[in-house]
Amino acid sequence: MATAESSKASGSNGISSNATSAGTTYELPWYIYINHPLSKPIKLTQSPHRVEKYRPTYLNDIVGNSETISRLQIIAKDGNMPHMIISGTPGIGKTTSILCLARQLLGPNVYKEAVLELNASDERGIDVVRNRIKGFAQKKVTLPPGRHKIVILDEADSMTSGAQQALRRTMEIYSNSTRFAFACNQANKIIEPLQSRCAILRYARLTDAQVVLRLTQICKAENVQYSDEGIAALVFSAEGDMRQAINNLQSTWAGFGFVGGEEVFRVVDSPHPVKVQSMLKACWEGKVDAALELLQELWGLGYSSHDVVSTMFKVAKTMPGLSEHARLEFVREIGFLHMRILEGLQTLLQLSGGVARLCRINMKEDDFVV
Ligand SMILES: Nc1ncnc2c1ncn2[C@@H]1O[C@H](COP(=O)(O)OP(=O)(O)O)[C@@H](O)[C@H]1O
Ligand SMILES: [Mg+2]
Repeated sequence: MATAESSKASGSNGISSNATSAGTTYELPWYIYINHPLSKPIKLTQSPHRVEKYRPTYLNDIVGNSETISRLQIIAKDGNMPHMIISGTPGIGKTTSILCLARQLLGPNVYKEAVLELNASDERGIDVVRNRIKGFAQKKVTLPPGRHKIVILDEADSMTSGAQQALRRTMEIYSNSTRFAFACNQANKIIEPLQSRCAILRYARLTDAQVVLRLTQICKAENVQYSDEGIAALVFSAEGDMRQAINNLQSTWAGFGFVGGEEVFRVVDSPHPVKVQSMLKACWEGKVDAALELLQELWGLGYSSHDVVSTMFKVAKTMPGLSEHARLEFVREIGFLHMRILEGLQTLLQLSGGVARLCRINMKEDDFVV
């Protein structure tokens, strides 16, 4: 059966267990994963696109959300999958988990016949629910004992509520032969009657360490030349979205032949955090002129105010050397600046005003007395 395959010990197809190049901060999770008895090399398929090529085939290979994944593992082993909703931000493995689960439950041969997969690009109005889904639910398929047919509704929050309403009866009537799995960004976009029929699994955003882990595995398997700054830059810009991190990895590798910090920031086209950090540092030291000069430089490179302010936020969150109080003040001020920009004031003047206010945070009141 499919599950048996997933528990093979690590073999060798280019993914070595060298933990060092991931950067010292992330050593621990990397180490644990590599030594996990069930961890196995990433399966290479024929798809030319990295994101698809490295879509995990088995639940074991999915990184992060380990508690939820281990619940899915149990379901994969015991069968009797409940109706379920998996919710969470994009690119964290929701669709992948459902596909892996279905594959492990049914095995590759039955899968083709016993799984109906509909995503946002398919028509999913009431008619489809009435005809295609109902037709599938009524279909007779020979299944392994204790297994069910599975309907996968990906990006289900984009289904109209009419279509969701139409599913209610189908889910109930055919639940002894067909189970439903929904993936969505927000569980509350699924109508309540469906929610109450489902087990709701919420996926958390992936941590930086988890993204680093996967990226370095892929780099090694593909023989990609990379530096630690390059990986850090990918992680920084992806913010826990694995799909985006892998996409950017591929674009950088394809475009530059090397994955370094500079290269990644040129591909993702966002301001280099090191520059932004020196600007914020100047603010912290009360050096208004220096800070404004750095801002001018970023502006001159053509970044939009939105890019600048969101990088400022990301940098301020983790910038070393700031007191807790100062960090909160910085984030607050940047938050107001962001609001003004979203309201439409996307000018250098607004950014400069924001930077000036940041400079003020660490200045003594007396400096302002005339
Ligand atoms: N937890 C994860 N572990 C490993 N790869 C992942 C994970 N999450 C996402 N990916 C990668 O990102 C791609 C998109 O993942 P997907 O499951 O479709 O995301 P979504 O949560 O948006 O449905 C996959 O093909 C895979 O390469
Ligand atoms: Mg998805």
